[in-house]
Amino acid sequence: MNMKPLVIANWKMNPLTVSEAKCLFNSVKKGLRDFKKVEVVICPPFIYLPILGALSSARQKTGGGKLVLGSQNCFWEQKGAYTGEISPDQLLDLACQYVIIGHSERRRYFQETDEIINKKLRAVIKAKMSPILCIGEAKKEREQGNTEKVLRNQLIFNLKGVSKAKFSKIIIAYEPIWAIGTGKACGVEESQKIGLLIRKIITKLYSSPIAKKIRILYGGSVNSKNAAAYIKEAHLQGLLVGGASLNAKEFIEIIKVVSV
Ligand code: PGA
Repeated sequence: MNMKPLVIANWKMNPLTVSEAKCLFNSVKKGLRDFKKVEVVICPPFIYLPILGALSSARQKTGGGKLVLGSQNCFWEQKGAYTGEISPDQLLDLACQYVIIGHSERRRYFQETDEIINKKLRAVIKAKMSPILCIGEAKKEREQGNTEKVLRNQLIFNLKGVSKAKFSKIIIAYEPIWAIGTGKACGVEESQKIGLLIRKIITKLYSSPIAKKIRILYGGSVNSKNAAAYIKEAHLQGLLVGGASLNAKEFIEIIKVVSV
C-alpha cells in the first residue's frame, strides 16, 4: 500500500500548562516543514484543542507535511444532559478529524467495555471523523497464546453494526498492552504478522478489497530508533506514539525516519 504514513501523537494527560502545549505544538509544526510525505495528528487533552486549532490554521503556509488535530476520546451521544462529556459534533467543530477509540487505558481505568467502544466508534463515523480503533492483548493473554482470539473478539464486537460503506473511515491501531509505556516495543516481525492477521480478520468480517485498503498502525514504546522499521519492514501504515510524542525533538526525529 503506497500512502503517506500516519503518525499520531497521543499526549494523554500532558502537558500541564497551556504554554507548554503551545510550545510543543509549535515545535512539531515547525519541524514538519521539511517533511512532506507524512501526515501527523496531534491528540492533546480536550482543553487544548481550541487553542491548538487556532495555531494550526497557518498550516497551509508552512508547505510541509499535513498536521491535523485529533481527540483521545469522546462520548457517543451528540448533545444533551451528559455532565462532563464531549460530543463528536463538538470535536468536529474544533476541526478534529480523528478520534482515538478504545485505548487500553480507557478500557482499564474507565471500564470501557466493547459495547461502549462500539457506540463511540459509530458516533465518530456518524460525525464524519475517522475513529482510530485501538486493539491489543495483555501480557498474560499473549503468554497463553490467546493473542489471535483477543484481537478477533475485539474487532468483532467493536465493529458491530458498521456497514461496508462506512468502513473506509476506520483506522486500526495494534497496541499490545504489554508494550505501552514499558520500553518493550513489539518486534518488527511480530508486528508484521499481527498486521496480516488483522487484515485476515477484516477480510472475513467484510471483504478482501476493504481489508487491503484499511490503514493499520502500530503503537507501544515507539521511538526514533524503532519507528522506521514498522513502516518500511513490517509494512504498517503508521504509528501511535505516546511518551515520545511529548519530546518535540524525538517526535520530529520519528517523523523524519518514517517520512517516505
Ligand atoms: P507509549 O504509548 O508510546 O508511551 O508506549 C503508546 C500509547 O499508549 O498509545
